[in-house]
Amino acid sequence: MIEIKNLTKSFGNFKAVDDLSLSVAPGEIFGFLGPNGAGKTTTVKILSGIMRPTSGSVSVAGFDVAASPLEAKRRMAYIPDEPFVYPKLTGWEFMRFIGDIYAVPAAEQKKRIPELLETFELTAASGELLEGYSHGMKQKLLIASVLLRKPKVVLFDEPTVGLDPKSIRRFKTLLADIARGGAAVFMCTHILDMAERLCHTVGIIYRGRLVTKGTVDEVKKLTAAPGVRSLEDVFLELTE
Ligand SMILES: Nc1ncnc2c1ncn2[C@@H]1O[C@H](COP(=O)(O)OP(=O)(O)OP(=O)(O)O)[C@@H](O)[C@H]1O
Ligand SMILES: [Mg+2]
Repeated sequence: MIEIKNLTKSFGNFKAVDDLSLSVAPGEIFGFLGPNGAGKTTTVKILSGIMRPTSGSVSVAGFDVAASPLEAKRRMAYIPDEPFVYPKLTGWEFMRFIGDIYAVPAAEQKKRIPELLETFELTAASGELLEGYSHGMKQKLLIASVLLRKPKVVLFDEPTVGLDPKSIRRFKTLLADIARGGAAVFMCTHILDMAERLCHTVGIIYRGRLVTKGTVDEVKKLTAAPGVRSLEDVFLELTE
């Protein structure tokens, strides 16, 4: 569902992403881990089509993102690390806007938008302009808009930053539901506990290069150091 082939992104002489290849299958929740500046956001921006690779290719739901950007974007959702919403729309209008541009039938919007707003406790604020929403409220609205669309591929860049504990719990449940529905989830995160519990597979990127990828259990076995038990231990060892 997501295919990254020999992806390199250079900024001047600096390689932010260096010959990265990996794939994510339908129904798979992939956690993309790595220290600050490792190249995670750069990779996700290229997958989403908002940044061009220097070399290599990425495809989403069978469409090459550079060659068929509209077909690819129709099938994917991207939630960036800084939630962007149009400040002069209300929560309700934003949901309608996303529903319309992604061709969600009107009857379905009418039924599901109130349900989704309720799920994220945004019903009371849904008539307010988004410029007055907190960071977490914007993030929740974006997550609700993704669920309205049912995309085949979901890209999340640090999705739980700014969410309260109850919303994080809800987010995790919904993420598992999205994957069970057959979508591929690509999630950058620093929260290794969450990655360990929620992701089927994880990859660790360090200085632009993928140092490992596998199931959580496989990755945890990679280090022979005695007493190593958690993904955090392995992460810290591999990115030393
Ligand atoms: N537009 C840009 N111009 C120049 N350098 C950039 C640009 N975007 C990213 N970089 C550099 O590329 C490297 C990777 O950045 P990136 O944002 O992908 O890291 P990250 O893994 O998402 O880090 P974090 O965990 O802090 O979010 C960093 O060294 C960063 O300074
Ligand atoms: Mg980042």
